[in-house]
Amino acid sequence: MEIIPPNLSVRIGSLVMRTPVTVASGTFGFGSETADLVDLSKLGAITVKATTSKARVGNPPVRIVETASGILNAIGLQNGGVENYIAEKLPFLRRHDCPIIVNVPGETPEDFAYVCRLLTDAGGADAIELNISCPNVSHGLDFATDPLQTATVVQACRKATHLPLIAKLSPNVTDMRPIARAAEEAGADGLSLINTLIGTSIDARKRTFRLANITGGLSGPAVKPIALLHVYRVAQVSGIPIIGMGGIVNATDAIEFLLAGATAVATGTVNYTNPLAAIEIADGIAAYLQTNGFAGVEQIIGAVTP
Ligand SMILES: Cc1cc2nc3c(=O)[nH]c(=O)nc-3n(C[C@H](O)[C@H](O)[C@H](O)COP(=O)(O)O)c2cc1C
Repeated sequence: MEIIPPNLSVRIGSLVMRTPVTVASGTFGFGSETADLVDLSKLGAITVKATTSKARVGNPPVRIVETASGILNAIGLQNGGVENYIAEKLPFLRRHDCPIIVNVPGETPEDFAYVCRLLTDAGGADAIELNISCPNVSHGLDFATDPLQTATVVQACRKATHLPLIAKLSPNVTDMRPIARAAEEAGADGLSLINTLIGTSIDARKRTFRLANITGGLSGPAVKPIALLHVYRVAQVSGIPIIGMGGIVNATDAIEFLLAGATAVATGTVNYTNPLAAIEIADGIAAYLQTNGFAGVEQIIGAVTP
């Protein structure tokens, strides 16, 4: 008897991913850094580092410290700017058969919309992830802690592009659901959650903060239970697909996010220790579907029972 492999493909608006696994922005560079190791065409999509209207140098070092089961980072959105991305990074990415999600932060709604327009005109993205939730820059969090400001950014970008818009939300709020609803009503095609949790680290011996920026964003296995709950709660009130992330290191973690209601998942901090994680996780999801008799990933999305 012929064994039919399970259907792993998922959609976020017009973005078609051949597996439900992408990489989280800021943890995989622009693809070229790992191209010797990773066949990009095996990723569901590549989500590239934050790309802003102008180049940014980021925060001073120290910018990353280890914590129990995670890391704190305060990179501060270092990047060469959108024009540099289009000229220097995009040609390499387009040589690979892999959809591109560009992560876009901004200082004002107009700033976000400007980058969206440039990316659209240059064919620089297959979807745009609006980073309205970066905890490592001044004003970075403001948008995604307030439904009105979230809506204002999404609306401005909706007018600037026909590409799928994915709003990346912050866990640094009491309840993410009103913010998710605001993003959806303003025209978002998908939601990414979660960005990092704000925290700090102190060196008792030196009696100083370990990060030059004092605060950083916590990621890695330590945050997984929080991320999973946000995905579950948001999935109950939202009609658009969710990309779940936060502490995923293996296929079982990823399957938990799918069961909670995520349509796709992203690997972040784990990429630093295993750049092949996203591909191995996609294989692991396929094996789980096959073993449990599911024809496709859609069958397990949101399938958790109380
Ligand atoms: C070093 C580092 C840099 C990051 N840079 C960005 C970024 O530029 N834009 C963004 O939206 N998220 C950024 N993030 C957050 C991740 O995309 C992801 O939301 C978060 O790390 C949770 O996933 P994880 O626990 O699997 O790492 C960064 C995370 C890390 C660890």
